[in-house]
Amino acid sequence: MIEVSASNASGSIYSRTEEMMNGEILKFDMGYNSKANMGLKMKAIVCTKYGPPEVLHLKEVEKPTPRDNEILIKIHATTVNYGDTLARNFKDISPRKFNMPFLFWLFAKIYFGIRKPKITILGNEFAGEIASAGKDVKSFKQGDRVFGYLGQNMGAYAEYLCMPEDGCVALKPANMTYEEAAVVPYGAIMALNLLRKMNIHPGQNVLVNGASGGIGSAAVQLARHFGAEVTGVCGTPRIELVKSLGADSVIDYTKEDFTQSGETYDLIFDILGKSSFSRCKSSLSQNGRYLLASFKMRQLFQMLWTSMIGSKRIICAIASGSKEDLISVKELIEAGKIKSIIDRRYPLENTAEAHQYVETGNKKGHVVIILEHNNKT
Ligand SMILES: NC(=O)c1ccc[n+]([C@@H]2O[C@H](COP(=O)([O-])OP(=O)(O)OC[C@H]3O[C@@H](n4cnc5c(N)ncnc54)[C@H](OP(=O)(O)O)[C@@H]3O)[C@@H](O)[C@H]2O)c1
Repeated sequence: MIEVSASNASGSIYSRTEEMMNGEILKFDMGYNSKANMGLKMKAIVCTKYGPPEVLHLKEVEKPTPRDNEILIKIHATTVNYGDTLARNFKDISPRKFNMPFLFWLFAKIYFGIRKPKITILGNEFAGEIASAGKDVKSFKQGDRVFGYLGQNMGAYAEYLCMPEDGCVALKPANMTYEEAAVVPYGAIMALNLLRKMNIHPGQNVLVNGASGGIGSAAVQLARHFGAEVTGVCGTPRIELVKSLGADSVIDYTKEDFTQSGETYDLIFDILGKSSFSRCKSSLSQNGRYLLASFKMRQLFQMLWTSMIGSKRIICAIASGSKEDLISVKELIEAGKIKSIIDRRYPLENTAEAHQYVETGNKKGHVVIILEHNNKT
């Protein structure tokens, strides 16, 4: 996550303030119409200090009320992805550990809070139902089933959230349950946005390094949809998962170095930036592109350099989380082009356990948090 290019997900998650006394949270003011909120509570997973999964606690907080241009969403499912684990423990993320240039790290550090989290309710993907809508809302009505992406604003580890109707929210794909829909937005929006910049043609050879993760698993399916022949690279336990996503071939990075196979690719999409341009160069076809979702200043300079010299290019790209991309993702799901693979489900109160599981590195697919009022339709 930490897509520094602004996501238009929601400008309104909110000026949260906390009143603390003797370490106990007395009140969370979610920043909207507090009179209408008076007395109304909801359950949320709150994190008031950085640290391991145990910093996540179930609390009662103020239930938000939508402004005139906002919708109130009753959350049925949310997820634990890369961005949640990063934001929960950002104090421990040094510029070196952060997969982006120093300035991006600094921005994220200030945004998330230097000593303690400013964002106390995590969760950046969701699926749920519109509980009510502000008077100016035109595109949604009460009862609509929706899914969406909150980007760095977060706030989905709660029974309810408010966001503007023009945020990154769309009607839920008809052929997915809430839990299936909730795990799609982050990875699919990022992958779609980044792959569209590459203009993939049918018959091209594409390699996805990091094919079993949030972005990579969507990238494999989308590259196949664009007509490419797709090779996925992942660790041994996730070979079958990547095959099930439709990859034409799968390489286990613990056993084989794809840069030594003699194969060439029109696009190498490296999600974590675990390879390097110099090693990948001979695996790129004439005019081949090396696309990085995670990069440092060095790769930005290489991008500039390769744009002037030679036919093989390195592209460092940032994706935005737009409503338009989410609508495209919904259509692709309904056309059977994107599916979600759920590994484990946890109730909201066990969110800390879900974070622990994700951090073991053993997950095979997505980890979803189910809220009690989920009716699985
Ligand atoms: N550019 C942008 O706009 C943008 C937007 C969002 C996020 N990001 C970046 O994307 C990254 C997170 O992506 P994600 O959410 O997809 O992460 P993720 O869900 O944690 O997945 C990480 C993937 O990397 C694979 N991997 C780990 N070590 C590897 C190695 N040595 N060689 C090859 N693959 C390896 C993992 O494979 P196994 O599990 O099989 O080992 C897994 O598939 C972050 O670095 C973030 O900064 C960029």
